[in-house]
Amino acid sequence: MALVEVENVDELLKAQTHVWSQMVKNVNFLFLKCAVELGIPDIIHHHGRPITLSELVSALAIPSNKSDSLRRLMRVLVHSGFISVDKNGVEEESYLLTPSSRLLVKENPINMLPFLLRRLDQFHFLGDWFRQDEPTAFKMAHGTTFWDFANQNSELNRNFNEAMAGDTRLLMSAIVKKYGEVFQGLRSLVDVGGGTGTTTRIISDAFPQLKCTILDLPQVVAAMPESTTIESIGGNMFEFIPPADAVLLKWILHNWSDEDCVKVLKRCKEAIPSKENGGKVIIVDIVVKDDEKGEHELKETQLCFDMMMMVTFGGKERNEQEWQKIFIDAGFTEYKIKPGLGFRSIIEVYP
Ligand SMILES: C[S@@+](CC[C@H](N)C(=O)[O-])C[C@H]1O[C@@H](n2cnc3c(N)ncnc32)[C@H](O)[C@@H]1O
Repeated sequence: MALVEVENVDELLKAQTHVWSQMVKNVNFLFLKCAVELGIPDIIHHHGRPITLSELVSALAIPSNKSDSLRRLMRVLVHSGFISVDKNGVEEESYLLTPSSRLLVKENPINMLPFLLRRLDQFHFLGDWFRQDEPTAFKMAHGTTFWDFANQNSELNRNFNEAMAGDTRLLMSAIVKKYGEVFQGLRSLVDVGGGTGTTTRIISDAFPQLKCTILDLPQVVAAMPESTTIESIGGNMFEFIPPADAVLLKWILHNWSDEDCVKVLKRCKEAIPSKENGGKVIIVDIVVKDDEKGEHELKETQLCFDMMMMVTFGGKERNEQEWQKIFIDAGFTEYKIKPGLGFRSIIEVYP
């Protein structure tokens, strides 16, 4: 029987398109990276009004014979929602930033550039990693864990902390506006793995009565700006968490295996009072949706994060059942999930 028959030709073409679509999606990211490396979002931002292709060519100082290539790059960015087009009745169309590309402008304090420009060497080891006994593909690529590598490499450490801070400024401001009640009534809070303090500063500014402490690895705390209102402690969350009404774990547990999460959650439980006395753990992380229900992009982001956690840290993204299991294993009795933070949620967990 021939491989392609009239009866299966449509199905085969659909399957082939699906494979191509996954492959070109991967390259799609490189177009965005190229636009950022060229500084296109910054140029459009500084231009202050829609920019035409010829204005963009001269602002980029590229040879004029690259004009058509640039037009095609802009077309793909329009399609992926990073640029919008303003026709404005004139012959030559002009380009504007969208809410997504505004997050790629250098001087925007909530920009996502450090994440976009990061190196992804570990992903090239993924196939080999499946055949070998290494804990992560990151370790295969770099010979050590992410955290030890960051400890030895001050540039990576700085970039990672900057990347986290950029993400945090937007997400935490949204949390304070949308779900401020989570922090109301608390007298003290310890932000475990609080990085260089962006999360804690936003909470502390919104709730000045709250005594805030940060616990992170000594090399991270060492890079933290001086503060008169926030105490910072260099330490290891697997060993000790300072006592407080609430422990905040923002984007921490997805870096770790279930066994490690249970260990950290047990340390959290030792640090907080009973539920009746206001004790709780506040987790900001992904709760993987079990269905697609019209939110294809959201679920795809969650599943890609799950792979990134596996490859880089040996961690994982969890659905509600998986979260519930680690809460019970760590001795907690109740939890409440508040979704609606893009692809992430807040989970309040009670002893
Ligand atoms: C993904 S970052 C999250 C940072 C911050 N919570 C945020 O969302 O912006 C994970 C943080 O956990 C910290 N960390 C890793 N291992 C740790 C440990 N054993 N004890 C305390 N902090 C740790 C890292 O230094 C890093 O700041």
